[in-house]
This record gives sequence, C-alpha cells and structure tokens, in this order.
Amino acid sequence: MNKKIHVLMVCLGNICRSPTAEGIFRSRVEAAGLNEKISVESAGTSDWHVGEAPDPRTIQAAAARHYDLSTQRARQVADEDFSRFDYILAMDTRNLAYLRERCPQQHQHKLKLFLEFSKTGKREVPDPYSGGASGFELVLDLVEETCDGLLQTLVHEHRLLN
Ligand code: 4NP
Repeated sequence: MNKKIHVLMVCLGNICRSPTAEGIFRSRVEAAGLNEKISVESAGTSDWHVGEAPDPRTIQAAAARHYDLSTQRARQVADEDFSRFDYILAMDTRNLAYLRERCPQQHQHKLKLFLEFSKTGKREVPDPYSGGASGFELVLDLVEETCDGLLQTLVHEHRLLN
C-alpha cells in the first residue's frame, strides 16, 4: 500500500481560512472513503492565536453548511512540518512567501498556493478577519470548490482509487 499523504493548510492566524480548508477537506476525504490514505491538518504563520478555537464567525458560517470546525485549535507552523507534510498549501502569497523563506531546500517543492487546485483562476483566499459576513461566505465558496479539485488531483496523481 502507498504511504499516507499528509496535507497542511496554512494561513496567517489559523483561525479563519486554514481551519475552514482543514475541515472541508477532511469532510471530502471521509466522503470519498480515503481516511486511511490522506490526512489533513492546518497551521498559521503567526503565533497570534495559538491554542484558540477558530473565530466564532468562521465556526458559525461553516456550521451553516454542516461542517464542524469547533474542536480545532490554532497552532503555528513548526520546522518539522516541512519534512512531515507532502503538500503545504498557503491561502495567499504573503503566507507562501513566509513559508518559502523558512522551508529547507529539499522540501520547497511541497509549497504551493491552495488555489492552484481551483478552476476559478484566482490565486488567493482573501483574509476575512477584518471584514463582514460576505468575506466568510467567500472563503467557504472558494474552499469548497478547491477541495474538490485538490481531492481529484491527489486521487489521480497517487492512483488512490486503483
Ligand atoms: P486567517 O485570518 O489568517 O484566515 O486565520 C486572520 C486571523 C487573525 C488575524 C488576521 C487574519 N489577526 O490579525 O489577528
């Protein structure tokens, strides 16, 4: 059997975008029966919210679409993440640049923008933290669409359903 694939979702605070991506991608992986083959976690590039649950607005908006993010707790990206994970997916270019600075050369190929797996043509999931409710809905829309693309890509590249 192939080695399990480890995916890390990364944003700034790890309380809005990357917990949403973690929760939705986990739900897609479960629905596809691929729990044994794919794992997902999330982390922030900052340490501002370490130990906290996701933002209440994030929890609420996701719950309205039947995703439970309430048990997640924020953590900061750690040095060992670069060796432990196979795909390290940043929500925007600023966080990708931070990861590129910190990541050892032999793991640089793992770093990508999350929206590389989207068909929207967009590059970034906009930070909803300082805005209104529509920002959280946009995060959910982008993340749902991209998680479908990400799962399809992993299944294809790693021949997971064979
Ligand atoms: P996230 O959003 O990176 O999607 O978790 C943010 C959360 C908190 C802050 C900024 C962005 N903050 O400035 O505390």
